[in-house]
Amino acid sequence: MRQATVYIDSQALQYNLNRVKQLAPHSKIVSMVKANAYGHGVKNCLAALNTTDAFGVACLEEALEIRRLGYQQSITLIEGIFSEDEMTQVIEQKLECIVHHRQQVEWLFAHKQAYNALGLKVWVKLNSGMNRLGFKINEIIDVIQCLKAEGFTCVLTMHFANADADHPLNQQQIEQFLSVKQACGPILASCCNSVAIYKYPELHFDYVRPGIMLYGASPFADKTVHDLDLKPVMTFSAEIIALNHIQKGEYVGYGSTYTATQNADIAIVSIGYGDGYPRAFIHPNFVAIHQQLVPIVGRVSMDMIAIDISQVKAEIGTQVELWGNTRLVDDVATANGTIGYELLCRLSNRPVRKLK
Ligand SMILES: Cc1ncc(COP(=O)(O)O)c(C=O)c1O
Repeated sequence: MRQATVYIDSQALQYNLNRVKQLAPHSKIVSMVKANAYGHGVKNCLAALNTTDAFGVACLEEALEIRRLGYQQSITLIEGIFSEDEMTQVIEQKLECIVHHRQQVEWLFAHKQAYNALGLKVWVKLNSGMNRLGFKINEIIDVIQCLKAEGFTCVLTMHFANADADHPLNQQQIEQFLSVKQACGPILASCCNSVAIYKYPELHFDYVRPGIMLYGASPFADKTVHDLDLKPVMTFSAEIIALNHIQKGEYVGYGSTYTATQNADIAIVSIGYGDGYPRAFIHPNFVAIHQQLVPIVGRVSMDMIAIDISQVKAEIGTQVELWGNTRLVDDVATANGTIGYELLCRLSNRPVRKLK
C-alpha cells in the first residue's frame, strides 16, 4: 500500500492548548477549528481540544460537524450566518453568531427571543482598518446600542491585519478597538489571534482566539515553533519507493530541470502535489530522513518527488518526513513562497490521516 500518511499528535495539540492557557490565563479560549481544523481533520482534533471553552468555525456546516461528533461547547460562527434560514439551526444547535453587516442584525432581531433565551452572545465585528469584515467605527456603537436595547449580550471583536509585523495599522486598530470598548460601557471583548496572544498580553480581554499556534506552526515570520515553545501537531510522511544511482550530467524529473553536478544517489518518494505537497519551490527545499535534512531535486510531480540521498543512509521503505518536527511546515512554506497555514489547509484527502 502507498504510504503517504498524515500523523496527528493529540498530545502535542493538548500541549499547545495548555500553552494558550498559560499565556492567557484569565481569558476564555475559542479554539479555531475552521477549515477542517486547519487541515488536520476536525474529528482527529476535538478530543484533544475538549477542555477549550469554545470552538470557532467559518460556517454553519463546520459547526454542525462539531455537534454531529458530540461536542457541546459554545461555537462561534466567525462570519455569522449567510442567510436568515440558517437561524433555525443556529437556535437548534445553540451557535453564537458574529454580525458584520446590518442584514445579519435584522435576522437576529427577528429571532431575538429564542436566541436570547438560550443565553447566546452576539459577536459584533469592528472593521478597524483591515477592511475585510465589520462595521466601521462610526456605525458600530449604534449597532451595539440597538442590540443591547433588544436584550442581546454583545462581544466586541476585531481581527488584526498585521499583528505579525511592526505596521502602523496595528496601533490604529488597537486605538479604535479600545475607544469603541470604552464608549460601549461594560462589554465583553476579543481581539487576539495566535500572534496577538504572544504580542499583546494586555489585549487578551474576555476571549482569545488561537488558531495556528494550536497546531504547532508559527504565526511569526522570524520565530520558529520551537522558539515559541509549541509542538508541531502534524507529521506528514511518505516512503522511498525507488533508488537510482545517476552519473554526473544526468537529469532528474519533468522538464529535466535538475542536472547532477556529480555522481549521486537519488531516491524517489511517493508524495506529490496530488497529495497537497507544494510544487513551486522558489528556494531550495528539503525533506528529513532520520532528523537529517535531505534536498529535493528536480520538479515535484503529481505522485512523486526525487531527493538526493548521497549523504544519508536510506533504502526502499525508509520513512521520509515532508514536514513535522525536523522539517518545519513553516520552512517548507517559506521555500515555496507561502505560509504554513496554506500548506496545512490544502493537503488533499489522499494521504491517510492517523492519530499518533
Ligand atoms: C476572526 C479570526 N480569529 C482568529 C483566527 C485565528 O488566527 P490564527 O490562526 O492566526 O491564530 C482567525 C484566522 O484566520 C480569524 O479569522
